[in-house]
Amino acid sequence: MTQDELKTWVGQAALRYVVPGEIVGVGTGSTVNKFIDALAGMAGQIQGAVSSSEASTARLRAIGIPVFDANEVGELGVYVDGADEIDGRGYMVKGGGAALTREKIVAAQARQFVCIADESKRVQTLGAFPLPVEVIPMAAQAVARRFAAGVQGTRGEATLRLKDGAPLVTDNGQHILDVRGLQITDPLAFEREVNQWPGVVTVGVFANQRAHVCLLGTAQGVQTLT
Ligand code: 5RP
Repeated sequence: MTQDELKTWVGQAALRYVVPGEIVGVGTGSTVNKFIDALAGMAGQIQGAVSSSEASTARLRAIGIPVFDANEVGELGVYVDGADEIDGRGYMVKGGGAALTREKIVAAQARQFVCIADESKRVQTLGAFPLPVEVIPMAAQAVARRFAAGVQGTRGEATLRLKDGAPLVTDNGQHILDVRGLQITDPLAFEREVNQWPGVVTVGVFANQRAHVCLLGTAQGVQTLT
């Protein structure tokens, strides 16, 4: 069983949470791409989607699914997205694909977060995956120093994410720090602390926007964790 096959399974399994006639929230990443591929079969049955990235928007439009601006619609029934790490409480680290800010916005707009992930993403404690933090460019070094100082269990080594040798620029025109060496034992407290640092746009800990359901792809099949 390859990781790609596990992603395909969970992408297809998430279709059961999509309600015909509604607008669905769509995340970003290779697992979500499998979900979008599966969603093509429902293209005529849903009103459309709210997307968390330019990449997902292009993929949705390519299969004929209308994409709405988040401001055009009210509450969504469901948001489907992947994760870089997920623990037993549904708390996640996200942002490996640099889309964390829009992901958190769309997740907050939905009643239910359905996380789709292969079993390699399941962890006891968040933090082994370098934590993405979207920052205003002029604050990058100040935020990195805050992680080095490490108040309230936030000690880690932050490095600027690069693409083709230059700082990666997100869909929102900002930069990403990746923070290594963390052990996030209290995700709610961690998210609250980092959220208040000047220049932080979004921290990739999804504790307030935790997953309500996780469809986990395993060699034994898709497990539904709630
Ligand atoms: C993008 C994300 C993704 O959901 C996360 O990186 C998982 O991606 P993949 O499904 O490719 O492993 O948060 O910002």
